Amino acid sequence: MNPPSDSSPPAGPGPPSASLRLARRLARVESRGITSLDPAPPFWAEAEGVTVVDADGKRYLDFTAAFGVALAGHRPPAVVRRIASQASRLVHGMGDLHPPAAKVEFLEALAALMPWPDTRIVLGLSGSDAVEAALKTAFLATGHPGVVAFEGAYHGLTLGALAATHRERFRRPFTRRLANHVTFVPFPETPSEAEASLEAVARATSAPASPAGAVIVEPVQGRAGVRVPPPGFLKSLAEAARERGALLIADEIFTGMGRTGALLACSLDGMTPDLVCLGKALGGGMPLSACCGPADVMDAWPPSSGEAIHTSTFLGHPLSCAAGLGFLETLERERLAERAETLGREATAYLREAVGADVQVRGRGLMIGLGPVRAAAVAARALEEGLIVLPAGAAGKVVQITPPAVAEPGELRRGLEMLAAAVRSAG
Ligand SMILES: Cc1ncc(COP(=O)(O)O)c(C=O)c1O
Repeated sequence: MNPPSDSSPPAGPGPPSASLRLARRLARVESRGITSLDPAPPFWAEAEGVTVVDADGKRYLDFTAAFGVALAGHRPPAVVRRIASQASRLVHGMGDLHPPAAKVEFLEALAALMPWPDTRIVLGLSGSDAVEAALKTAFLATGHPGVVAFEGAYHGLTLGALAATHRERFRRPFTRRLANHVTFVPFPETPSEAEASLEAVARATSAPASPAGAVIVEPVQGRAGVRVPPPGFLKSLAEAARERGALLIADEIFTGMGRTGALLACSLDGMTPDLVCLGKALGGGMPLSACCGPADVMDAWPPSSGEAIHTSTFLGHPLSCAAGLGFLETLERERLAERAETLGREATAYLREAVGADVQVRGRGLMIGLGPVRAAAVAARALEEGLIVLPAGAAGKVVQITPPAVAEPGELRRGLEMLAAAVRSAG
């Protein structure tokens, strides 16, 4: 047994701030292993657009979009309006038994955006849910238990998704509980690495002991530090998977719904996947995720009769579906994908100029990584100045920015200047 926790955040000089008081209360009620409280982080009280206000009234520019969720900004008006309207009529339904009408409306709107003529969708509440649904679908469709995933991959922390997540820090405490049907192959960033990676995929998909039913890939690796594969790789990967009877799952939970400048990042490489996982931005700030695929793949699921074999209490939650409709409305009206492309190009050009040749700036659309830098120190420095950015990558050498695509050019420039200054002083 662990000793009783004494993880109370230390006080600095002067009276404790509202955030520090909240941190102390949290330490007494939340399990360890979740919120990092030393130093006490700012606790959020309000947010709108790109701006967040903490419990002490300090304002920040949020260049993380809160883990990539607020692509349409915090509290997008169409999302707030639809949630309020839905809440005035029905807050909770019976997802797979007496489904809320909002579920149908949302599924129709999402299916219409997908690359297949006849799309079927399994909804979830978290990205991990969508990954679990995709891995189950691939197994049902192919009968093959093996999975090929990439070094550096992050697909979530539920046990099925964690088995395909590569980072040791997340896996180590649970190693003996993780299914051992996943083979990791290198994620390429150059054409020669792509060749070696495809050869590794070919070997892994045909291993006779555990033939692969799925190859799962992030079109741009996010948490690994914004790693972009070379042009053509995703297309060749899908071909390699299909040649050996495996499905290509694109985990677009971070990259999807416009973040990288296109609705789906894999379309930038001319690749149409067999299954797509969506989450984060999809719910406009509400918990909502989806595993989408063409009917001929998704119909591997047997017809539902009586008790569903894949569901959950809150599946197709009316408030999340209403929020999702608000997000899709904003995506189209505000042309979020185009804005992500334009703003991403401008941000990348500015940063390349501002941070100097020693720091590489890479990414797609509004998913940008800078490194090598002392990422935690840069993020801490930026936070002091009122800019929220995140460290990424196993070695802590990359700072990641994924700002809302509704950022005004002036807001974007102000945040980039703060970031460049933080890199110069702490990087
Ligand atoms: C690519 C990718 N897949 C899956 C997940 C897991 O999503 P969630 O944290 O909502 O379960 C994440 C979260 O960061 C992600 O970036």
